[in-house]
Amino acid sequence: MCGIVGIVGKENATDILVQGLEKLEYRGYDSAGIFVTGVNEQDHLVKSLGRIADLRARIGQEVQGTVGIGHTRWATHGKPSERNAHPHTAGDHQFILVHNGVIENFEEIKQEFLQGEQLAGETDTEIVVHLIAHFSKEAPNTKEAFKKALAVIKGSYAFALINKNDPETIYVAKNKSPLLIGLGEEFNVICSDAMAMLSQTNRFVEIADGELVTVKADKIEIEDETGTIVCRDSYEAQLDLSDIEKGTYPYYMLKEIDDQPAVMRRIILEYTDQVGRTTIDQTIIEKITESDRVYVVACGTSYHAGWVGKTIIEKVAGIPVEVHLSSEFSYNMPLLSDNPFFIFLSQSGETADSRQVLVQINDLGFPSLTLTNVPGSTLSREAMYTLLLHAGPEIAVASTKAYTAQIAVLAVLAKAIGDKKASPVSKAFDVAHELSVIASVMETIIDDKITISQLVEDYLAVTRNAFYIGRGTDYYVSMEAALKLKEISYIQAEGFAAGELKHGTIALIEEGTPVFGVITDEKTAAHTRGNLKEVESRGAHNFVISLASLAKETDQVILPDVHPLLTSLVSIVPTQLIAYFATLQRGYDVDKPRNLAKSVTVE
Ligand code: M6R
Repeated sequence: MCGIVGIVGKENATDILVQGLEKLEYRGYDSAGIFVTGVNEQDHLVKSLGRIADLRARIGQEVQGTVGIGHTRWATHGKPSERNAHPHTAGDHQFILVHNGVIENFEEIKQEFLQGEQLAGETDTEIVVHLIAHFSKEAPNTKEAFKKALAVIKGSYAFALINKNDPETIYVAKNKSPLLIGLGEEFNVICSDAMAMLSQTNRFVEIADGELVTVKADKIEIEDETGTIVCRDSYEAQLDLSDIEKGTYPYYMLKEIDDQPAVMRRIILEYTDQVGRTTIDQTIIEKITESDRVYVVACGTSYHAGWVGKTIIEKVAGIPVEVHLSSEFSYNMPLLSDNPFFIFLSQSGETADSRQVLVQINDLGFPSLTLTNVPGSTLSREAMYTLLLHAGPEIAVASTKAYTAQIAVLAVLAKAIGDKKASPVSKAFDVAHELSVIASVMETIIDDKITISQLVEDYLAVTRNAFYIGRGTDYYVSMEAALKLKEISYIQAEGFAAGELKHGTIALIEEGTPVFGVITDEKTAAHTRGNLKEVESRGAHNFVISLASLAKETDQVILPDVHPLLTSLVSIVPTQLIAYFATLQRGYDVDKPRNLAKSVTVE
């Protein structure tokens, strides 16, 4: 989703801003822009529809400045266009603003304060910069005008504001949308994601909702809602620039698929000791053990990981688990048990739908744990406890290693709770050993990706749609496999409970429709094979992914056997590769699918 970068310094900032925006490309966007000022009293506003490369092509030698802000926009209000791209200006171009988030009362603001005002586009952001210009007529300075505007605005935002008559300062404020200050020698930066400015600094300062920060080259000043100056320590980002480079890989997605065995091994190291005991903080385990029901709340791929996690926790730890979509939960809260415990699954830790639920849960006083890949992310800061996924940065929009990391960490968590409750299933579940087996099996599948690439040509070269079917955990994997395929290859794909197809959806099976069956559970294998026969006799082109002990010679992908509770960790890998190769063969950008954002920071 939208990204923000900014810098106040002494050197030319143009390239730093554009490089910062390039680092945010993975989040998804449709237009971009920068504003720079501070050299020879010249200022420059450059915007472009499309990629950062298009923006770069428009930036001439003369576009120089020591102070600047930049933005990647993912359209919400107003279609993707140059005039709707940020930065937006007002007050005869005196005020320049970039914004992430959504202003809920922008229509009311327009009616009350901006009647007759000429607007260039349709964005909610443009209303805000005009509002600041409006208040600046009566306010003593930019900060006071900004504060007056903030007092009127309702919604989520991260703002960066420049007054070009005071070109040595950037004013920033946030509510619900992420924004960080990065500290440098004779410069300071701002960014919505630390990755954008890692090439400049790895020391960052967090900003809390409701704070306003004045950023200059040699100092920053944080003010809370009451106007009190806040002192806050900086922290070192635990990120390495090399973690966010593709290296020799053509796409991040392929690198991230290949990373998965190493991620499994890292999770073993992080969460178990040398004799295989779990090392998760016992206060978390006690809190979960005291609860009568666990509620997993998540979106997209994380939601699918939640379903697999439910099975593992229920079987190993014996606690009932419900899995909910964040976007539904917040408006339609189910009847909760007496003593609930909430687990938020989120790769980014910034998903607005999940955060909305966390705010409600915190208001109700219920305990919560976030499993996230991003330390210091909003969901991590606001939940009672955090467990990190240790998957390393995930850049491709299509989530792969975060999914398997979530399941692996949930498995360790299940083991820790089960051991605390002296569950016999848990006693027999050597999670560290089983995850190390998983890592080796993942490597075997990944090493043979050429076979999958060839099969994809046979099955998906021309089709418009496809189905994944399975039962139990294989159904949950099917949902995730279908999401992966549709989000990057644009093949209309559905993940179905194998037994449910005949209750309606089987009507869509035609001659040649690809149907992928996932078979890793001996209790359901025969039934799923029966369902595959049903679709085959109606023309389906069947593709079977099975475990070796359940395989037939004719199956397309046969996976080595692994622990029955962890089969999803290996059956998902060929489906990730299927999505990858189908997308590549269709000539689409694997890492940046249309319309999608990596971190979905609007509800
Ligand atoms: O960062 P989160 O895990 O909270 O993100 C949730 C979804 O937006 C995300 O999983 C999305 O579905 C991915 N693009 C799927 O590949």
